[in-house]
Amino acid sequence: RALRFCSSAPCPRHKPSAKLSVRDALGAQNPSGERVKVQGWIRSVRSQKEVLFLHVNDGSSLESLQVVADSSFDSRELAFGSSVEVQGQLIKSPSKRQNVELKAEKIEVIGNCDAKAFPIKYKERHPLEYLRQYPHLRCRTNVLGSILRVRSEATAAIHSFFKDSGFVHIHTPIITSNDCEGAGELFQVEHSSKIKLPEENFFNVPAFLTVSGQLHLEVMSGAFTQVFTFGPTFRAENSQTRRHLAEFYMVEAEISFVKSLQDLMKVMEELFKATTVMVLSNCPEDVELCHKFIAPGQKDRLEHMLKNNFLIISYTEAVEILKQASQNFTFTPEWGIDLQTEHEKYLLKHCGNIPVFIINYPSALKPFYMRDNEDGPQHTVAAVDLLVPGVGELFGGSLREERYHVLEQRLARSGLQEAYQWYLDLRRFGSVPHGGFGMGFERYLQCILGVENIKDVMPFPRFTHSCLL
Ligand code: 4AD
Repeated sequence: RALRFCSSAPCPRHKPSAKLSVRDALGAQNPSGERVKVQGWIRSVRSQKEVLFLHVNDGSSLESLQVVADSSFDSRELAFGSSVEVQGQLIKSPSKRQNVELKAEKIEVIGNCDAKAFPIKYKERHPLEYLRQYPHLRCRTNVLGSILRVRSEATAAIHSFFKDSGFVHIHTPIITSNDCEGAGELFQVEHSSKIKLPEENFFNVPAFLTVSGQLHLEVMSGAFTQVFTFGPTFRAENSQTRRHLAEFYMVEAEISFVKSLQDLMKVMEELFKATTVMVLSNCPEDVELCHKFIAPGQKDRLEHMLKNNFLIISYTEAVEILKQASQNFTFTPEWGIDLQTEHEKYLLKHCGNIPVFIINYPSALKPFYMRDNEDGPQHTVAAVDLLVPGVGELFGGSLREERYHVLEQRLARSGLQEAYQWYLDLRRFGSVPHGGFGMGFERYLQCILGVENIKDVMPFPRFTHSCLL
């Protein structure tokens, strides 16, 4: 139902109102009664004497636009949550609370909101766990609005970092026949039974949702030298933790002619720091709101990460540090065993909460593609993980095994030689030393904003036993 409330008939002498976003209206310099039109959702309604104050937000900024309406407007119809179109004059606000306000001449309710049934209540600060039940409505709250705008800015900042550093962006496939990480955490793709095919299988081979674009990026780094991809990846792991999702976004880079982990770590650190600096300068209010309401103290923790050089320790050293710790761990640290969350936490504390690269892991813990360090009985590969405070592992990367015969033997041992013939070909036709990494995008957002649970930085989180909407 569309209702119309006019305080005065539109004046034929006036030009049609220019449509402005709330952000642009708020940013207007010295407004002097220009006629504008703003659309959005009512965030608050307050009546005072003969005047009605509304705050309208359209998601373009954290701040809402104050609309001032006289007593000829019917406040009963202007409910919290309703969508409206307001036309009026943009003026300098007499109040110190805002620079600009919109003096309403016409307010049209586009869609009413039943405030009693609306799960988001006026003036209430709902906990993030409560809002998680409403993935279709929570984006209308200040806190989710800020998180998702930061997400959007960070996406743009990552693309801009890679473009400025000379990387080519590649769309790696979502559907693939390989299991890059070899961990068997695959979602298999089936076609609908309504589609009748002569063969049982749509692709003739088993097909899966990708767990990583790395192998396809390796193909492309063999032509473009520096490439990156940034897309959804899928893991069917039964990890009900605050940092695992079944669908998450990964930023992956692959670089040819790279011979040392140092070169890779330099790009990882630059990516983290440059992206964060861009985000902080492009949406400071949104970051500040998250820091203030979700994670007090996070601003200082983030500054500490940005101003210090990231540290580097080897896996072997890390195990030694853990063995000497006075703390009792649930999982006893031992060479050859993967680092657990409690170990990561301890190591970060030990490093003064500066992000730390852990390098050279036992080969038995890592996938087939990592380069052999050829370092004797305690056999390691040139792998690197970056641990960051509040999250733990944020990046995983490695130098890749570029030597044909070494890789061939490894694949033969696992019976994968035939399936990975194309991958071996890359080592036959102009092979180069190369390496790359992947950064979990949601974990990155958790780290900079101080968000405890990964489900709160993903618009529509998918995890074990949950695929809402
Ligand atoms: O360490 P991972 O498994 O590395 C790879 O997939 C490599 N192939 C990447 C590459 O070298 N191109 O994953 C990389 C990062 C992790 O460090 C973590 O931040 C994130 O991806 N990640 C997850 N994030 C959310 N939910 C999950 N289930 C995740 N699994 C990994």
